[in-house]
Amino acid sequence: MCGIIGYAGGESDDTVLERLLNGLSNLEYRGYDSAGIAVANAPLAVEKREGELVELERALAADGAAFNGSRGSDDWIGSDAADSFDGPTGIGHTRWSTHGPPSDVNAHPHTSPNGSVAVVHNGIIENYRELREELSADGYEFRSDTDTEVVPHLIDRERSGGADRFAAFRAAIDRLEGSYAIAAVFPGHETIYVARHESPLVLGLGENGNFLASDVPAFIEYTNQVVYLDDGEFAAVSPSSVTVSDESGAVVEKSVETIDWDPEDAGKSGYDHYMRKEITEQPRAIRDCLRGRIEELGGTVSLPELEGLEEPSAVQFVACGTSYHAGLFGERLLQRQGIPAQTFVASEYDADQLPVDEETLVVGVTQSGETADTMRALRGANRAGATTLALTNVVASSAARECDHVLYIRAGPEISVAATKSFASQQVTLSLLATALADTADPSSSASREHLRELRRLPDHIQSVLDDSNARSVVEAFLEADAYFFIGRGYSAPVALEGALKLKEITYRHAEGFPAGELKHGPLALVTEATPVFAIVSGREKTSATIGNVTEVQARGAPVVAVTDSPATVGSHVDYVLEVPETHPAVMPIVANVQLQLVAYWLADALDRPIDKPRNLAKSVTVL
Ligand code: AGP
Repeated sequence: MCGIIGYAGGESDDTVLERLLNGLSNLEYRGYDSAGIAVANAPLAVEKREGELVELERALAADGAAFNGSRGSDDWIGSDAADSFDGPTGIGHTRWSTHGPPSDVNAHPHTSPNGSVAVVHNGIIENYRELREELSADGYEFRSDTDTEVVPHLIDRERSGGADRFAAFRAAIDRLEGSYAIAAVFPGHETIYVARHESPLVLGLGENGNFLASDVPAFIEYTNQVVYLDDGEFAAVSPSSVTVSDESGAVVEKSVETIDWDPEDAGKSGYDHYMRKEITEQPRAIRDCLRGRIEELGGTVSLPELEGLEEPSAVQFVACGTSYHAGLFGERLLQRQGIPAQTFVASEYDADQLPVDEETLVVGVTQSGETADTMRALRGANRAGATTLALTNVVASSAARECDHVLYIRAGPEISVAATKSFASQQVTLSLLATALADTADPSSSASREHLRELRRLPDHIQSVLDDSNARSVVEAFLEADAYFFIGRGYSAPVALEGALKLKEITYRHAEGFPAGELKHGPLALVTEATPVFAIVSGREKTSATIGNVTEVQARGAPVVAVTDSPATVGSHVDYVLEVPETHPAVMPIVANVQLQLVAYWLADALDRPIDKPRNLAKSVTVL
């Protein structure tokens, strides 16, 4: 869950330092416990600091002073630090701690005792304890608590045995078990060596130099020519060339993908937070998601990506967090079409324990396409012989390459840790998938016609909410609430869970979502006049039943906020209304969720929370 970057460059206006720091700032959503860089001069120039990237920048700006310890101890920085950071090649890292608390010494890059190599790593080395013991027995001293520090020591040992740099790197990697995206630099050497196994790693082919990184936003402002490394592959990245090879050392020809993201997309476009920008991008994201997928005349869905997909006997969704809530939404859509469907929390999914065969369609719903729990579930489903489908936002991500079929949700880059536009695009893509799977049974029923017509109007529905929402003023009434509850029925139940998750993630306040009918079976005991309840009430689905639940909580004194497309019906039963345009009951919750995103956003803003980088979280969780 860390972010790594590397650049091997020729002459350019800005220095390797600037390109590394720029890249790290676009990778900070992957972790911000510490940051560090190493420039491959002789000796290596390494600087690393606990805390956000700004701490590293401060340290670098204070160059010239000896950093924690002098040459030969923790950090290889000489008094002429400023110059030594000016070189053609370097690597960088932003950390999300797994082994060892956030600290300067646990920050990456990690070096060998004699400064013969520096390494950055994203992933977990499962056999690091055995390797530590073995290396300690060979006289290597460990300074950090991290799993990663075994790597530079292994490389150094191979080097002292006479191996050349790449051979030493390969031999070291060969000893590792677990997940890793690793990059290594050597003093006075302009080539970076990298390896990938179950952690994302992409290469960027630039005009004056070449990049490597955990994700495309790290270098998209310099190049959109991208090569995706596969598990087990290595690469040598130099200023003039990039060579990819497999475990045996054989060169592998790789395709170069052109990423059509506008670099501006990777920036905040003038908004205070990526989250706010991404909330406002939903109308465009949904237009992109629908583009070319609904036949205007026939009112049918066309998803060529599903070509060859047999009609499944059952569908199983596997996902985590917000994507799990999207899966629950998809499950309801399929059940309404008479297709058996279930949703599993990916970390609890075990295909071997379930009725899975080739007629089972296992759908991995994952924005990043890299979430380790979802990847493990998908690999298990493949081994069990299921047909697999990735519903993801990232082209050529691990999930996309693991599955038999891929449906891209086309939401564009989502940087803020809190998923917003990707959830809406997941719900829309799942609506298209459900209609496509149902169409095979009963082409263009009237129900699906109206549903598709309202999906096409969804961007306008959301735009009107963005233009007119009163969420900010409603939130001001509940700044001091004890807890926040969200309820909904049918298609709105998953959105109630999502509303609670969003509020928890970015405000650090207690919130829970429930299928409205569940309240009286326990959670109602938590309801008081200090716990506002947000009720999602569609004017066309389970309206009176949900209003019944509203009166239940009001009877306990709780203030109620209705998110509804039918204020005339619901308004008199509640204290506040967050209105959405009248629409199809399977489309209304997608619009309603935008109001709930704004509730969470404005509450977090009022509480002055670090909205884009909430504590203890990261955008893509690549460890189990
Ligand atoms: C949502 O706001 C969170 N970032 C988190 O729950 C996320 O949905 C979960 O980690 C799954 O990520 P994925 O969609 O990239 O697999």
